Amino acid sequence: MWTIQASAGRSWAVPSVTSCAIVAMVRAIRPDQWRLLRDIRLRALQDSPDAFLSSHVIEVGWDEGQWRATVCAAHWFVAFVGNQAIGVAAALRGPDTSTEPHVTSMWVDPEYRRRGVARQLLTALGRQVAKDGWNGLLLWVLDGNDVAREAYSRMGFAFTGEHQPPLADSSRMEERMRRELPHRGSAGRSAHASENLIGAATVQPAAT
Ligand SMILES: CC(C)(COP(=O)(O)OP(=O)(O)OC[C@H]1O[C@@H](n2cnc3c(N)ncnc32)[C@H](O)[C@@H]1OP(=O)(O)O)[C@@H](O)C(=O)NCCC(=O)NCCS
Repeated sequence: MWTIQASAGRSWAVPSVTSCAIVAMVRAIRPDQWRLLRDIRLRALQDSPDAFLSSHVIEVGWDEGQWRATVCAAHWFVAFVGNQAIGVAAALRGPDTSTEPHVTSMWVDPEYRRRGVARQLLTALGRQVAKDGWNGLLLWVLDGNDVAREAYSRMGFAFTGEHQPPLADSSRMEERMRRELPHRGSAGRSAHASENLIGAATVQPAAT
């Protein structure tokens, strides 16, 4: 795909960033890898403070126990290029056992955006959540985060019509989106359909 750029009366076509898709290595994070989560999560909070309800100031003060509890509270996946962590996302259960898991904490390093990394993280989350027996993924996205709203829409999420001030910050508003997961009864078709919906990913067990 090409984009037209213009300057000083001249125009030319350049390849758009989305044409340089990369295949990241997506790994599930274990509790003993809490430092890895801490580092990328703090980078995310510093880079995109308006995208999240927590903040760098709060989480930089967390101790090992809090980070380990955070890993255990959700399915966390980190995307790597070589040894470099470039993206993170989680699927969080709750608020009760009948609620489908919510995608939270999605962030991709700005240098790697528009190259399919969020799609690969969602593929990993979708597979894990389907394996757990769920039919859908939910998420809340803040009003004003137009890039994330567009990206989630393009990755198959649709607004549910639920719109509310988040508990953590009543001065803002958030909207819920949901994506149906392929039917879990048909394992072969399910994996294939999942890839068609949200993209292929190389998913590895957690590194030691
Ligand atoms: C939102 C975010 C995670 C997207 O990550 P990404 O790796 O760039 O997304 P991908 O490259 O996998 O793109 C997925 C889809 O979204 C679209 N998309 C991504 N960024 C977009 C943008 N800026 N404008 C329009 N569409 C966009 C892509 O084109 C792609 O759709 P397509 O395959 O139909 O073309 C990333 O921008 C980010 O980290 N933002 C800051 C943190 C944030 O807002 N997190 C969400 C909190 S709810």
